[in-house]
Amino acid sequence: MRAMLDRRSVSPKRLGAPGPSAEQLELVLRAALRAPDHGGLTPWRAIQIPAERRAELAQVFAEEKQRRDPLASADDLQRAREHALNAPTLIAFVVSPRAGVTVPLHEQWLAAGAALGNMLNAFDALGFGAIMLSGDRCSDAPLIASLGLQLGEKFAGFISAGTVLKTPPAAIPKSIGTVWSQWCGAKAEQPQGALD
Ligand SMILES: Cc1cc2nc3c(=O)[nH]c(=O)nc-3n(C[C@H](O)[C@H](O)[C@H](O)COP(=O)(O)O)c2cc1C
Repeated sequence: MRAMLDRRSVSPKRLGAPGPSAEQLELVLRAALRAPDHGGLTPWRAIQIPAERRAELAQVFAEEKQRRDPLASADDLQRAREHALNAPTLIAFVVSPRAGVTVPLHEQWLAAGAALGNMLNAFDALGFGAIMLSGDRCSDAPLIASLGLQLGEKFAGFISAGTVLKTPPAAIPKSIGTVWSQWCGAKAEQPQGALD
């Protein structure tokens, strides 16, 4: 419980070597595969960007930045490159809903999110820092194509993971009252938006 109560996302700038080993990554994926999943559809997949491909991805990031901002400076492009290089482990997380099944799309997305949550908790439980980041580049068609996404898939973002070199500030506590209430019966006045 302590691990889950205290988990924090850790910015790639605060991460360094060593990243998780192949065995530790396997544990993270096994934890993700144990997330609740209606119909056992596994509507997600994860693509590791290996060390030897980081320079190539950095170039893809720089080209995406230039498409989005034709006036980007050399520094801007370098910063975009660094996003592909910073973290020891970089994983593209893809939501991959199954077609022709009775499980509704929103439940498949929830299952993918649960798997993502398990991955982040597993990195944390293994003593690593991790964070999921999306941003504008996640909707860039050439970048998405370069990751090999299939029709119907959605590129959700990159998970960075590694050793925490600089501890992030403690999380701002959230009140459970914002998410928790007691049912007052079917005839009671329901809060606004209850049927949304
Ligand atoms: C699918 C997804 C995409 C995200 N994309 C971004 C992002 O592009 N930029 C960002 O600052 N935070 C993003 N976040 C939020 C961070 O991962 C993180 O949850 C947030 O900084 C809060 O930190 P915490 O997890 O320690 O509470 C994303 C989270 C999720 C689940």
